[in-house]
Amino acid sequence: MSKQVLITGGAGFIGSNFVHHWCQNHDGRVVVLDILGYAGNKANVSDLMEQARFRLVEGDICDGELVAALLAEEEIDTVIHFAAESHVDRSILGPAAFVQTNVVGTFTLLEAFRNHWQAKDKPADFRFLHVSTDEVYGSLEADDPAFTETTPYAPNSPYSASKAGSDHLARAYFHTYGMPTLITNCSNNYGPYQFPEKLIPLMCLNILLGKPLPVYGDGQNVRDWLHVSDHCSAIDTVLHKANPGDVYNIGGNNQVKNLDIVHQLCDLMGELAGDLPQPPRELITFVTDRPGHDRRYAMDISKIEKDLEWTPAYNFETGLRQTVAWYLENRDWWQPLLSEEYRGYYDNLYGDR
Ligand code: NAD
Ligand code: DAU
Repeated sequence: MSKQVLITGGAGFIGSNFVHHWCQNHDGRVVVLDILGYAGNKANVSDLMEQARFRLVEGDICDGELVAALLAEEEIDTVIHFAAESHVDRSILGPAAFVQTNVVGTFTLLEAFRNHWQAKDKPADFRFLHVSTDEVYGSLEADDPAFTETTPYAPNSPYSASKAGSDHLARAYFHTYGMPTLITNCSNNYGPYQFPEKLIPLMCLNILLGKPLPVYGDGQNVRDWLHVSDHCSAIDTVLHKANPGDVYNIGGNNQVKNLDIVHQLCDLMGELAGDLPQPPRELITFVTDRPGHDRRYAMDISKIEKDLEWTPAYNFETGLRQTVAWYLENRDWWQPLLSEEYRGYYDNLYGDR
């Protein structure tokens, strides 16, 4: 039988990619709840508006009454929870919004879903999948083994601390109430529809605009990059194959230093963009490091590979090339995002660096 899903944050980067993945692969009702803040963009799901099965609700996950009403009236059996404040630099500038949405918002959803699930006599096929991050595990040194699902939590930024708090709540709802939660912890995503505050789209746009490419610290920090389509297929797999209470790490087996990515982006842009205001590599500018900057992330994904037979499909070189091409072909998507708010944020973060 088809699932009736509520997807929170479904107008953001990963959420909107997931909504498309879901609609292409599954039948049933799809309800998106998104506050449509700076990172939530109606345009990301506008092609689905005509479909009778799809509904976009503009609202806050912290609004318990709204969430309860949606779960009941749409007869939701599955929540896939992406909604969050997601950018580490913004969490350093203003942590309060992160505690509110990521901790209080997740608690509000869990509590509403618990009431809904209990009112229906705890159906065995209900699921609450909480989407989280590798950042909850802290930072690795160059030779440390990758994070596993049993690595102790050691979050270092207000963002990762708020995500850790939300993971603990999801875990507690399974252990205390038997509510069928699942948690996924994923590494850095890249691909289409990513807001240009994150490393890859920010560098692409700055190259096109002839602006400095701000590399934090020595540029030797390592991230484990995964194409967003692979993240979507992993979440789908966990939802359908994992047991309630399970936790799975998701990653790309693909550790890359920031400066190497910036060099690759400069070269790809040089090749694909035609005329550029300035040779891209000349724009690289080393700036003051991010406070508390985690040195390295790497995910051990052997559990999901072995238990659920999921493995990443994308090759990083091909995926990065496609992503650069997407930003070149979709100026109409990103140009409106370079708003007054964005410029204010940008000047505040990078102005004196
Ligand atoms: P994003 O910032 O692009 O999207 C977040 C979405 O949540 C936006 O549409 C936003 O409007 C919505 N939202 C924010 N506050 C809300 C609220 N109070 N109520 C309703 N909606 C709200 O983020 P993303 O990169 O797509 O990340 C999605 C999820 O995946 C987050 O939970 C994040 O922690 C997690 N994650 C992200 C990555 C990554 O590399 N981007 C990696 C691992 C995990
Ligand atoms: O690891 C998963 C996490 O990846 C997610 O949970 C977060 O939601 C997501 O934002 C991302 O966090 P990061 O901090 O790793 O991503 P970001 O794109 O902000 O930065 C990637 C690396 O690039 C990081 O080491 C900081 C560096 N950087 C970033 C920006 C924006 C720069 O050197 N310059 C920049 O201008």
